[in-house]
Amino acid sequence: MNGLSGTNSNPVSSTKAAGAGKPGILFALAAWLFASSSARAQEDIHAVANMFDPKSVPALQIHDVSLLVLLICAVIFIIVAGLITYTVLRFRHKGSEDDHEEPPQIYGSSQIELAWTVLPIIITVVLILVTARTIAEIQNAKMPESALQIRVVGHQWWWEVHYPGQGFVTANEIHIPLSTEEQPEITHVALESADVIHSFWVPQLNGKTDLIPNRTNHLWLQPWETGTFLGNCAEYCGAQHGHMLLRVIVHTPEDFKKWVASQQAKPVTPPTDPKIALGYDTFVAHACINCHTIDGTVANGVFGPDLTHLMTRDTIGAGAALNTPKNLWLWVRDPQASDMKPGCLMPDMKLLDSEVDQIVAYLETLK
Ligand code: CUA
Repeated sequence: MNGLSGTNSNPVSSTKAAGAGKPGILFALAAWLFASSSARAQEDIHAVANMFDPKSVPALQIHDVSLLVLLICAVIFIIVAGLITYTVLRFRHKGSEDDHEEPPQIYGSSQIELAWTVLPIIITVVLILVTARTIAEIQNAKMPESALQIRVVGHQWWWEVHYPGQGFVTANEIHIPLSTEEQPEITHVALESADVIHSFWVPQLNGKTDLIPNRTNHLWLQPWETGTFLGNCAEYCGAQHGHMLLRVIVHTPEDFKKWVASQQAKPVTPPTDPKIALGYDTFVAHACINCHTIDGTVANGVFGPDLTHLMTRDTIGAGAALNTPKNLWLWVRDPQASDMKPGCLMPDMKLLDSEVDQIVAYLETLK
């Protein structure tokens, strides 16, 4: 639990733990610095994506509009705040205590009233028009025949990701191809929900779009840079909304093809290695199979994430923790007891430590 306790370390609690006195405070500060630097050494799974650094066509369009809106609002703010500051300083009450006369009152200046009515209307209309134009451009963009179609279903608190054309299902980490001028690649995403309203938001790739029960919404991604882009659910959806994280991994078209091929491969069932086969037997003998799917096995539940290629994912628990053997072990042992995602819908399966060892050994072969 090294990385996690480091990430979650709280400067206040460590200061308290060290007790009073100067050496105590210094010790606590050093401990906190060490803890936060060791957390930084690992990948920060709670890093925040920068929405001012777009890497996809629709995100750029939204970015440009928001800059214009920010600029107009900044000018208004500077004028208003400047006038207030000037007035407060210039017309301060300087007279003696009994000098309480009201300043001259001005009524009925149609010029001033016209100005402060018409100007805001013009500004608002301009903002409405440019925003509406961008919304329409993004929403009505024609999807080419060749667009990669994926379907994302929001669950409390994870993302189910279907690649219907490629014939596999994954979770929480969405892989898509890079778009270049010579080879434009667009990913068209259908958004649905299995329970409550969620919201798909990967700031560097597109704006927020809600996932609503009994309805299908759409968005599209057209990234021009490879890499991992972080996102999260942007609509409060219950206790672990904050741990409903998303990763979009953008590959070159060649690497994307390789990734698709790896996801299409089926694991060998039952495993040939007797040690791994024991883990497989333990897995299928428990209720794990009612909620999880592993392609080619009797596990075909759909309540939890598909585990067919679990080890190709960087994180577990929808980004709640890095997918390390230790975290995976703690998660299988009891997701409720770990501080990764308390309140998640996976119950404590009351497994013996030896059973957890066996199951984790099997899960680790799901590449
Ligand atoms: Cu799903 Cu918030």
